[in-house]
Amino acid sequence: MMSISEAMKQGSGNVKIRGWVYRERKSNKMAFIVVRDATNIIQCVLSIDEVSADEWEAAKKLLIESAVEIEGEIKEDSRAPTGYEIKVSNLTVVHFAEVFPITKDQSVEFLLDKRHLWLRSRKLTAIMKIRSTVFEAIDEFYRSKDFYEVAPPIFTPNACEGGSSLFEVKYFDDIMYLTQSWQLYAEALIFSLEKIYCNSPCFRAEKSKTSRHLAEFYMSEMEAAWMKLDEVLDYAEGVVLHIVQKVLEKNKEELKLLGRDVGKLEKIKGPFPRITYTEALKILEKDGLKVTWGKDLRTIEEDKLMEHYETPVIVTHYPKETMAFYKPRDPKDPKVALCFDMLAPEGYGEIVGGSERDTDIEELTRGLEKEGESLERYDWYLEMRKYGSVPHSGYGLGVERVVSWICGLDNIKDAIPFPRTMLRNKP
Ligand code: 4AD
Ligand code: MG
Repeated sequence: MMSISEAMKQGSGNVKIRGWVYRERKSNKMAFIVVRDATNIIQCVLSIDEVSADEWEAAKKLLIESAVEIEGEIKEDSRAPTGYEIKVSNLTVVHFAEVFPITKDQSVEFLLDKRHLWLRSRKLTAIMKIRSTVFEAIDEFYRSKDFYEVAPPIFTPNACEGGSSLFEVKYFDDIMYLTQSWQLYAEALIFSLEKIYCNSPCFRAEKSKTSRHLAEFYMSEMEAAWMKLDEVLDYAEGVVLHIVQKVLEKNKEELKLLGRDVGKLEKIKGPFPRITYTEALKILEKDGLKVTWGKDLRTIEEDKLMEHYETPVIVTHYPKETMAFYKPRDPKDPKVALCFDMLAPEGYGEIVGGSERDTDIEELTRGLEKEGESLERYDWYLEMRKYGSVPHSGYGLGVERVVSWICGLDNIKDAIPFPRTMLRNKP
């Protein structure tokens, strides 16, 4: 047995493959069966004269998604969908499929209802391969820079990004939350490991129905002792560049299948422009979009700003008052925080968010009180500031946002196998 792509590489002679029927067309004497496996699709031709009567009967009954094993002679054929064809000498049907419910031109909602089956589509298969490359690139990047991978908890007593998007869970006789971000735990681990990263699911009860928000998504986070804002920006840029490079290296075929304009990705080179929030407002004002200083940038404003750029852009120094409690004031300008967002081009929005971390217990306490948090749930977090506190910084990269951007998707839901949103928790 070999994969379809291995068979194509062999290019001639006898091959043995297995997979699922992707398309089928039959006449009285011939059957054209396109078979797919994880690697590719290939056309297989059966002729009534060259297989047994049983095999021919089986071939006639084959419907889309039936599972088959095929042996035969492979040769190049420019008319075949992937340039090769197998002349079948042996056909084994592992499973006769019923009539597959997914046919052409079905609605987005129907395809989401049938997600467990739609995952077999070439489109989603291509996206999932790219997603896998994204994780590979992340691991490669951090490990090559001597980061340790760590595992934060999913159950947590704390909010990290504000109480309004927390999922509450019954935890024995207590209430806990599903994590919004590993960050608070990462801050504990840097005192032993110094440079760490993790890829973890995060949960947010996002009430907005946008094409950018999931209730369950993967965040790739890093945290590092001693690092200041400037240095952490270099890492954020570095990991994004490495991801794009790696996908271009490994997934050209998949990008082509998705209809992605690869030229746009090839233009992604560093250094990414770095502007402050205040500078961003000036650019927006020239575009006729006036934002009051102090207000967070909304989607339309981010998109408008990004019309000026072809690469991601790093926006720094947002107003302190709108920021999460852990983002420290800039000592040079106390109105702003030492923080950043990285925005993707082509309207894909914020892909990375990060900051230095406040080490001042009083500021942190004030921030938590302002957010209405109960301080005793954060005593452990504040206590870390009492023992060898050092500057440290980190960020979180939204994996599905990056996958959406790289693949050029219309909706973030296609960047994860089983999307969870306010309106969808099945299958
Ligand atoms: O900007 P956020 O909220 O940052 C944090 O959670 C920090 N604690 C991370 C850190 O410093 N370690 O989230 C980080 C990224 C966003 O830039 C975005 O790409 C993604 O996570 N993200 C989401 N992706 C999909 N669906 C959602 N609901 C998301 N919320 C955030
Ligand atoms: Mg953010």
